[in-house]
Amino acid sequence: TDAKAGMLPLTGKHVLITSGPTHEPIDPVRYIANRSSGKQGHALAKAAFAAGARVTLVSGPVTLPDPDNIEVHHVESAADMLQAVNASLPADIAIMAAAVADWRVTSEGKQKIKKDGSGKPPRLDLAENPDILKTIGHHPDLRPKLLIGFAAETKDLVANARAKLERKNADWIVANDVSPETGIMGGDANTIRLVSKDGVEDWPQMSKSDVAARIIARAAAALTS
Ligand code: CTP
Ligand code: CA
Repeated sequence: TDAKAGMLPLTGKHVLITSGPTHEPIDPVRYIANRSSGKQGHALAKAAFAAGARVTLVSGPVTLPDPDNIEVHHVESAADMLQAVNASLPADIAIMAAAVADWRVTSEGKQKIKKDGSGKPPRLDLAENPDILKTIGHHPDLRPKLLIGFAAETKDLVANARAKLERKNADWIVANDVSPETGIMGGDANTIRLVSKDGVEDWPQMSKSDVAARIIARAAAALTS
């Protein structure tokens, strides 16, 4: 067995993780972003390393320190994140925990936008960002064997997660309810529903590091089964 050989469950495997938000510049001093602390993604990177994997972490702007022993690529925008993810393939497992901004500003100004005194706000033109998980899920030859997405929802959690599973060609969607009344956003705990083609599994509320350890343990088992 692996234990007999003194091997950790992900020894020799490459795990690629995205974490944090992306920032989409409006002008040199402003941006659009999602709310994301990066706590769950960074916890996953640490858990994957603890399980013996070589880990690449592609992180948007977060205040967390870089985890030890992990190659970290710091990015700002979704376009940069996609590029860093592509450059980090191939991977055995990819976990897209980042809260990627869905839109970028196409009218990005090189100069700070100034109030013009008219009282009228400036107009921002938006374009949809590339979907990193979907791109990787449909990659002709470098799709990781196990591809895991996240879905933060405020309603219709399971139906939305199932639709994402399908659309993005992911193996699992780690879904969580982020309605304001749950107090989940930015906190240290998470309540997960793991959605796969086999069904939905409800996990009790636990710390983000326990969620990470459980996802990594399951991923290691799925990879070798
Ligand atoms: N995701 C991604 N690239 C994007 C948007 C999302 O890789 N441009 C990934 C996220 O990292 C996550 C999963 O897709 O793993 C689901 O993200 P979510 O924002 O819930 O899905 P969307 O397809 O953007 O749908 P929604 O309209 O609900 O935001
Ligand atoms: Ca989104």
